[in-house]
Amino acid sequence: MTRKLYIKTYGCQMNVYDSARMAEVLAPLGYTSTDRPDEADMILLNTCHIREKAAEKLFSDLGRLRQLKMLKADAGEALVLGVAGCVAQAEGAEILARAPYVDLVLGPQTYHRLPDMVARLQLGRGPVLDTEFPAVAKFDSLPETQAPQGVSAFLSVQEGCDKFCTFCVVPYTRGAEFSRPAAAIRAEARRLIALGTRELTLLGQNVNAYHGEGLDGAEWGLGRLIRMLAEEPGLLRLRYTTSHPRDMDDDLIAAHREVAILMPFLHLPVQSGSDRMLEAMNRRHTVADYRRIVDRLRTARSDLALSSDFIVGFPGETDEDFAATITLIRDIGYAQAYSFKYSPRPGTPAALSEDQVADEVKSERLQILHELLQQGQRDFNLSCQNRTLPVLFERPGRHPGQLVGRSPFMQGVHAQAPARCEGAVLPVRITGVGPNSLAGEVEMAEVKA
Ligand code: SAH
Ligand code: SF4
Ligand code: F3S
Repeated sequence: MTRKLYIKTYGCQMNVYDSARMAEVLAPLGYTSTDRPDEADMILLNTCHIREKAAEKLFSDLGRLRQLKMLKADAGEALVLGVAGCVAQAEGAEILARAPYVDLVLGPQTYHRLPDMVARLQLGRGPVLDTEFPAVAKFDSLPETQAPQGVSAFLSVQEGCDKFCTFCVVPYTRGAEFSRPAAAIRAEARRLIALGTRELTLLGQNVNAYHGEGLDGAEWGLGRLIRMLAEEPGLLRLRYTTSHPRDMDDDLIAAHREVAILMPFLHLPVQSGSDRMLEAMNRRHTVADYRRIVDRLRTARSDLALSSDFIVGFPGETDEDFAATITLIRDIGYAQAYSFKYSPRPGTPAALSEDQVADEVKSERLQILHELLQQGQRDFNLSCQNRTLPVLFERPGRHPGQLVGRSPFMQGVHAQAPARCEGAVLPVRITGVGPNSLAGEVEMAEVKA
């Protein structure tokens, strides 16, 4: 019997990876993916708890799905409604209290048990909740990847976080740091490459804290893991995200110099340009440490483009603190970056601070930062005009005969190219620059013909 599964993914790349794995876990039960919620027999919402807005979004979506479930029931059809991910982990039972029509609540560490949860649900004894941190590692119980994951695919190598930044829910929703063994990562990489993947982005909440068992039984860091994967035939590009400045070790920095397929783009969140704020955030590094790391990275790889995350309006942030963030952004020069208003999260220390910043002040600062970062992104994109960049083509574009891919610096690039160029890296001369993407012409005569 075939049944249809619709998964909606919120939040970070880790959730994107998890959603793909949940689909694979459910495939043996007869579930095939659909992108239409109205024809689904099961809907899973893979949620994010990082900021208040993200979490609230779940309940408005659930309200709509309740209507859908009632309509289906009227027609004599069942709809299984599941909430997975970080909101499920943080608010488990509360979700069932607020939305009793939900059937399944499962955390990021338990989705390998979905078949068992579905079986329990079929006993008809009401909703099933599974949000423990089980002793048996999830990764050991997941089925092997069978379905193509695209030219550019994610591969989780590390999960969880032990840093406990005072604003952040991740250590609570994802649990303690865990690194997968290199052999399991290599096996998954080989399966993905055999299915057509040409670029891997290694994922972890704190990916450069990776400290897994190496092929030789010794503990390996991320640099060593990257060198191992760079040897895989057929793999054209490697990236990793998200990193913490504290875990940027010598070997990883050297890998940026030595590993040609490691792309010159790094998302390295700093959060603030003020030491006072970094201390209050428990980031465990200073602004000077961060500047030094960036210098060393740029010495290793002169064309490295940087991205970052910034929080404005963290409790106690003054105009001077904010000005220090502006100075840091001007000095470093980001190819792109994200900025967020501080959002107090239940259970985190900063939420209890009495020094909360007024919302108007946060909005004002966010606006200023956002414009500055947008300007930086425009400038960086403009600097690519007339340059020839190697582009890895990933999929058809919106117009006929067009393919879309990425530059080494993560910019989306579209160009006219035949479909057979999907999965290839080709030189593209950049002829058009927009705020969010580039346009260009493939420079190889045999492709143009
Ligand atoms: N592991 C990564 C980031 C995880 S969360 C790191 O260590 O940097 C992604 C981003 O969300 C963070 O970098 C931070 O900028 C933002 N963020 C996290 N908690 C937040 C909160 N309570 N309010 C606003 N932004 C937050
Ligand atoms: Fe959150 Fe900090 Fe861990 Fe990043 S390093 S996931 S911001 S606690
Ligand atoms: Fe959100 Fe959880 Fe990722 S809180 S950012 S989905 S780790």
